[in-house]
Amino acid sequence: MTRRAVVKGVGHYLPDRVVPNAEFEASLDTTSEWIVSRSGIERRHFAAEGETTSDLATHAANAALADAGLTGDDIDAIVLATSTADMTFPSAATMVQANIGNTKGFAFDVQAVCAGFVFALTNANALIVSGQADRVLVIGAETFSRIMDWTDRSTCVLFGDGAGALVLESATGNGDTTDRGVLSTDLNSDGRFRDILYVDGGVATQSTGVLKMEGKEVFRHAVEKLAQTADTALDKIGLGADDVDWVVPHQANIRIIKSTAKKLGVGMDRVVVTVQDHGNTSAASIPLALSVGKANGQLKEGDLVVTEAIGGGLAWGAVVLRW
Ligand code: UT7
Repeated sequence: MTRRAVVKGVGHYLPDRVVPNAEFEASLDTTSEWIVSRSGIERRHFAAEGETTSDLATHAANAALADAGLTGDDIDAIVLATSTADMTFPSAATMVQANIGNTKGFAFDVQAVCAGFVFALTNANALIVSGQADRVLVIGAETFSRIMDWTDRSTCVLFGDGAGALVLESATGNGDTTDRGVLSTDLNSDGRFRDILYVDGGVATQSTGVLKMEGKEVFRHAVEKLAQTADTALDKIGLGADDVDWVVPHQANIRIIKSTAKKLGVGMDRVVVTVQDHGNTSAASIPLALSVGKANGQLKEGDLVVTEAIGGGLAWGAVVLRW
């Protein structure tokens, strides 16, 4: 008998304000056509003034709890992936903890930028498998609109705000790949590449800073590393592309998504794509896509799902789970 972390509920939240590409044409030397052709993004959501990452995360958490038929105090741990926490400290996770009325659990943030949700899910799985928690809320939430340089057309048109959440619950499996729940994980980082994607502020500068990215370089690493980490995660449990029902990738760029699917040998009819509607929401993109994928009937109980992501650090990884 093997302890497994099984998805019990999923939910998401997007701020009300939808910003179509055309809105950037007034202030920047860009076109909607360029943005769509280079990234696949058509629109994104931006948080309202005063709306914070923990607000978005709380909405998503409540939606996932409702989907699971649980309340805040049924949760043992909250793991929140974000690079845009409301404050330097305390963690956004503890703010969510208070907002959902949880007093018996513990909460912390995980920071691995766009790969954050894969890192958070891996940590949440470890908490359950090791017996330290029975129910874990795993959230990805971001307000990247707060760290944009609005004069930099090569970055500010790409990102959006949002949040997604999963409730994981312990269950007993057989120990083979027919089990529901998290089956395999693969995490990586390489700090030598810190300068190709970073925010030029923080505690050291006593300022929030803005996002800086060498897009072409990040693109090159993404195309190479995403298929590799997904393959490694599948290999660890003796599965291959033919076993995969759905790839749910980090949503940064449709060209990266397509190229990774091709390398993996998975057709685009088995890939959940939301980048056109959300833009790049960093750590929120995978749980958002999982929630949308379930809501529109793509993900069904028993499906084998592969998630993969890469972001600043560089940090990258993949999780294989049976929905
Ligand atoms: O989530 C974390 C991971 N992040 C990513 O995965 C992002 C990875 N990178 C990318 O998705 C792509 O590299 C971008 C979408 C950022 C850029 O696409 P690209 O095909 O690599 O374009 P580029 O950076 O090579 O730029 C091509 C041209 C440049 O002009 P020149 O130098 O050829 O004259 C840019 O200045 O496009 C220009 N450009 C724009 N033109 C119109 C850059 N941004 C814009 C823009 N509108 N918004």
